[in-house]
Amino acid sequence: MAQEVIKIRGGQTLKGTVDIHGAKNSAVAIIPATILAEEPVTIEGLPQISDIDTLVSLLEDLNIKTEIDGTTLHVDPTEIKNAPLPNHKVQSLRASYYMMGAMLSRFNKCVIGLPGGCPLGPRPIDQHIKGFKALGAEVDESSSTSMKLEAEHLAGAEVYLDVVSVGATINIMLAAVRAEGRTVIENAAKEPEVVDVANFLMSLGANIKGAGTTSIKIEGTDHLHGTTHTVIPDRIEAGTYMCMAAACGEDVRINNIIPKHMEPLTVKLKELGVNVDVQEDHAVISKGDTYQSVDIKTAVYPGFATDLQQPITPLLTMCDGISTVTDTIYPKRFKHVDELERMGASITTDDGTATIKPSTLSGAEVYASDLRAGACLIVAGLLTQDVTTIYNVKHIYRGYTDIVKTLKSLGADVWTEEV
Ligand code: EPU
Repeated sequence: MAQEVIKIRGGQTLKGTVDIHGAKNSAVAIIPATILAEEPVTIEGLPQISDIDTLVSLLEDLNIKTEIDGTTLHVDPTEIKNAPLPNHKVQSLRASYYMMGAMLSRFNKCVIGLPGGCPLGPRPIDQHIKGFKALGAEVDESSSTSMKLEAEHLAGAEVYLDVVSVGATINIMLAAVRAEGRTVIENAAKEPEVVDVANFLMSLGANIKGAGTTSIKIEGTDHLHGTTHTVIPDRIEAGTYMCMAAACGEDVRINNIIPKHMEPLTVKLKELGVNVDVQEDHAVISKGDTYQSVDIKTAVYPGFATDLQQPITPLLTMCDGISTVTDTIYPKRFKHVDELERMGASITTDDGTATIKPSTLSGAEVYASDLRAGACLIVAGLLTQDVTTIYNVKHIYRGYTDIVKTLKSLGADVWTEEV
């Protein structure tokens, strides 16, 4: 069967401007959250990626009227009807699990396929379920393909997360905003996307305090009205382009960023030797003359994002000494390493840590095992002097709006082919 591949001929200098889109991991929660509203909702600044299309189609399965106009989505949930959500759509992305919290909240009942998403090692949802149960839901997990959640009545509760989880924090917020009384989520995730979803829910009339801290307090409300909300900029998309500019860029301007959200990355890039000039809402990045080795350890926000450890890794092959990357969130998120080795990188992995020695990368045929692995391979391809062919690029299109077009506009020699 024919499939699209991305081909990159490295060795060009990237120059120009990139406009960052709305955050994928915020948008993929806000779209399911629209079903909590009883009036029309408009979401602005959405990324144009396949995960968004899938979620919009899931809303339509619930008889919700939707209209997409570029990066704006209009949702009219006034005729909403409960329905079991089909496995094939739900399984194509991770964030479909937000339909659980949202539907439980809206209907007190839902039947939904189990979530899919990038293969990053084990990705349990036990903390989501713990939260739903605490609020009064019965969860039937007897099927290997779907899950049934049902509550006679949702009531506020105190939920202590055993693991800091972005997904569980948001899902429990979704389930709690219409529950009776007060819910407290302790050991909550502090990621900017959690705050954005909370701001969206508050603009519908929800009563939430403490989003962005480890303790989130929610007072349930009966009625949530309509709103217009703009999604925050995608710190991972911005970070990926920063890594590309650090590989081979000269004055690449990255527009529409929140500098505070970029700090864990920009600090590391400066430590490496990248020229980073951060202004109020944009950054200008140029490749440095030489790069010094660094040690990176991923952690929950405001630590270094696990989603950026893959895109930054090719830069570490350019360093004078030996660098390490330890992923404490997903210790098995190293599928990109085999592909980088095919390109000539010298990397060993052991127990959640990759050790990267200086090496020169050259073009090869490589496979994008997941979204950020795909982004990593693009950075690597830009660093070579010959052609890299990336297979399985559907993962890349799940997270980056028009990435090939953007790279071309920066002067990269990149194109797609059907093979
Ligand atoms: N975890 C549990 N139990 C749970 C939930 C999570 O043990 O019930 C563990 C996970 O296995 C992981 C850690 O907790 O080790 C953190 O997982 P989290 O729940 O925070 O991840 P997630 O919500 O499933 C989101 C992003 C990921 C990003 C992680 C970490 C979305 C849709 N996905 O996943 O983004 O890596 O947070 O920041 O928001 C990506 O964009 O490429 C991506 C994978």
